[in-house]
Amino acid sequence: MFDTTRANIEYSGAIGIDMICQEGKLPQIPAPFKGNIDIMELSSYISANGAEQIAMVIITVTNNSGGGQPVSMQNIKDTHQICAEHNIPFYIDACRFAENSYFIKLREKGYSDKSIIEIANEMFSYADGCTMSAKKDAFANIGGFLALRNEDLATTCRNLLVITEGFPTYGGLAGRDLEAIAIGLYEVMDENYLQYRIRSIEYLTQKIAAANVPVMLPAGGHAVYLDAKQFLPHIPVDQYPGQALVCALYIKGGIRSVEIGSLMFGKYDAFGKLIPANLELVRLAIPRRVYTQSHIDYVAEVIIQVYHERASIHGIIIIKESKLLRHFTAQMDLI
Ligand SMILES: Cc1ncc(COP(=O)(O)O)c(C=O)c1O
Repeated sequence: MFDTTRANIEYSGAIGIDMICQEGKLPQIPAPFKGNIDIMELSSYISANGAEQIAMVIITVTNNSGGGQPVSMQNIKDTHQICAEHNIPFYIDACRFAENSYFIKLREKGYSDKSIIEIANEMFSYADGCTMSAKKDAFANIGGFLALRNEDLATTCRNLLVITEGFPTYGGLAGRDLEAIAIGLYEVMDENYLQYRIRSIEYLTQKIAAANVPVMLPAGGHAVYLDAKQFLPHIPVDQYPGQALVCALYIKGGIRSVEIGSLMFGKYDAFGKLIPANLELVRLAIPRRVYTQSHIDYVAEVIIQVYHERASIHGIIIIKESKLLRHFTAQMDLI
């Protein structure tokens, strides 16, 4: 689950549980579909807790919190089957549906001759609905949508929409943004674009990996993810190595990145001790169709230089934080 998805789930009183596959928890061991759900874990959870306890299953394509890693068609199909057997609604967080479809085309048997739209259609055919932030694979500046198969549920959501975002024909968005989304959803499936997109991320990943910088492998869809735990082994997790690295990259080279680790996903136990996240990552999300190769070379040079100077980087202490989504507004200091 992405951070704001989890926060919305928790705000509604439910609990969000991540069920990432085992290979997704090992940043530097390459595997083709590290965004897959752990099917065994999902099945055992349903058996142990009962399907009626579970409001829905969400699969995020690609997995932004875990390295921009893709989900295989087989995994989507298996998840759909388990959910259907137990009558649990199955949704796709579809932000990066085109990048995920492209990875399926490149990496999954039986899909190399299929078009991106065919692959996307098959992916969505297994779901009861999807959420989409159009700022990602729709090339739009703003907006998104919720798509549902169930007519009654859709009517309920439309009614709620009127009192929250706006009338169903525009949902709080300007007409030009709706047009941008409608066009962007097709434009993003252009294979020449997708090849450029995935190759750019791979280029930066390979360049820094060649300099021994610890980085999530293989390269993900939309971003390069540094493994902060390995990058800064002298900083303990309760001093937030990911956030320390984010600051170091900004100070050294003006590069903006984001921590995806214990600042974003950490919790406290009853004694106020940090329960760390699975991974301590730093994400460098690359805007679509913005940078040239020399921009990316600059980013690589800065990362490599910071890596050489890593022993001088200090941890972080939190001075002030909020209960929900603390990483959005927390105040911190260098130790
Ligand atoms: C996988 C995923 N889901 C949901 C969101 C939330 O999108 P928005 O900020 O448009 O609500 C993001 C944003 O980065 C995301 O990556």
